[in-house]
Amino acid sequence: MALHGLLSTKPPLPPVALAFGMMALVACGGGSGSAPASPAGNTGGGGTNSGTEFIASAQDVAKYGTWSAVDYSIGGTNPALGSAHMGPDNAFSRRIFKSASAVPSSSGYPVGSILVKETFTWQNGVKTFPATGGVFAMAKRGGTFNPQGGGWEWLALSNDGSQIMARGGADMMSGMCNACHTSAAAQTGGSDFVFPHPFEYAAAATDFANYRNWSLIQDTTTVSPYLGGAHKSSDSTAVRRIYKKQLLANPDTAQAGYPVGTIVVKEIQQNGAVTEITAMVKRGGTFNSANNGWEWFTLDPATTGIMARGADLMSGMCNGCHSLAKTSTIGADYVFKHPLDPFNH
Ligand code: HEC
Ligand code: HEC
Repeated sequence: MALHGLLSTKPPLPPVALAFGMMALVACGGGSGSAPASPAGNTGGGGTNSGTEFIASAQDVAKYGTWSAVDYSIGGTNPALGSAHMGPDNAFSRRIFKSASAVPSSSGYPVGSILVKETFTWQNGVKTFPATGGVFAMAKRGGTFNPQGGGWEWLALSNDGSQIMARGGADMMSGMCNACHTSAAAQTGGSDFVFPHPFEYAAAATDFANYRNWSLIQDTTTVSPYLGGAHKSSDSTAVRRIYKKQLLANPDTAQAGYPVGTIVVKEIQQNGAVTEITAMVKRGGTFNSANNGWEWFTLDPATTGIMARGADLMSGMCNGCHSLAKTSTIGADYVFKHPLDPFNH
């Protein structure tokens, strides 16, 4: 869709830049790039699991497409991301999958657990991985492997998930996989080098401050038939503008809608003055789970500061009216359709 380049507040990155962004995360890795010698008895059909040590094969990891997704997020939702995994780039989404056995106990994840993370963007409507670093995994290897890293082995996979491009323990990415993932246990719900999933994103006032720099997906005085008196719709001269923070947040229906971190702001102008600002943020986690994890906001028209927020804002009327947009002819995941949105139009 040529629309992307036209509408994005910044144009999509060319492939070379994407590759370069992730190279930083992988290229400095100390991973050997080749699989460790297979111990005797490994037929190659699957990983070796001696009971105490599990050496994941490419086939083991490639199964992730059949596992459940435990997280879908966009932008810098987890403060620990820093610049890793394209965290600060609002054009990139992340989706995390885990194997059935990856269930932690008080002593951590069992040997054989695997978690896989996809980092991707969209170009002309096509899901696109950066040249490197699009698919990462961590597999609980155990034995005497990477003791300071909880026995986890870190893996970088080819974008189709079929090949292991690099693997290692304490040496992987010069120790940065170990070092950053250590902080996972300090987050509520995180443990044993694995961050909490699903992650809950509670927006701060600063998240809304510069909303006029985001992608404008509606700018109209036309009164939607679903407004029913809300959002100053009784004033036929009121201008309703809608800004989307992450233009490429895709309400992928198979994964419960918009990624956690998605922010949409609606501004209403009457006689040239802003008279109402409302927002919706995909908070996720266990928040407002009856309504797909959305948090509703009213913002101060003068300062954009938060005036009110919550799951049941306006006595549940935000939830109630926006639930109309769950119907695919009207919208997706509580967000109404807008012609300038690349996915929900
Ligand atoms: C600067 C911090 C940082 C570094 C460095 C880092 N990660 Fe992560 N990683 C995170 C955060 C935060 C998450 C969870 C949030 C998210 O995915 O958005 C995560 C998630 C993951 C996940 C999904 C499981 C989980 O813990 O959530 C895998 C797999 C993963 N990273 C692999 C790697 C590998 C392999 C490396 C090294 C090549 C690496 N990471 C380096 C911060 C980091
Ligand atoms: C009676 C229906 C109704 C109620 C109640 C309502 N909205 Fe909306 N809202 C709409 C419609 C329809 C649109 C899209 C069309 C338009 O903006 O003209 C919309 C658009 C929005 C948008 C832009 C994203 C989108 O779905 O298009 C935000 C943000 C928003 N509303 C926030 C809120 C908040 C916060 C509340 C509660 C305080 C609320 N709305 C209550 C009908 C409603």
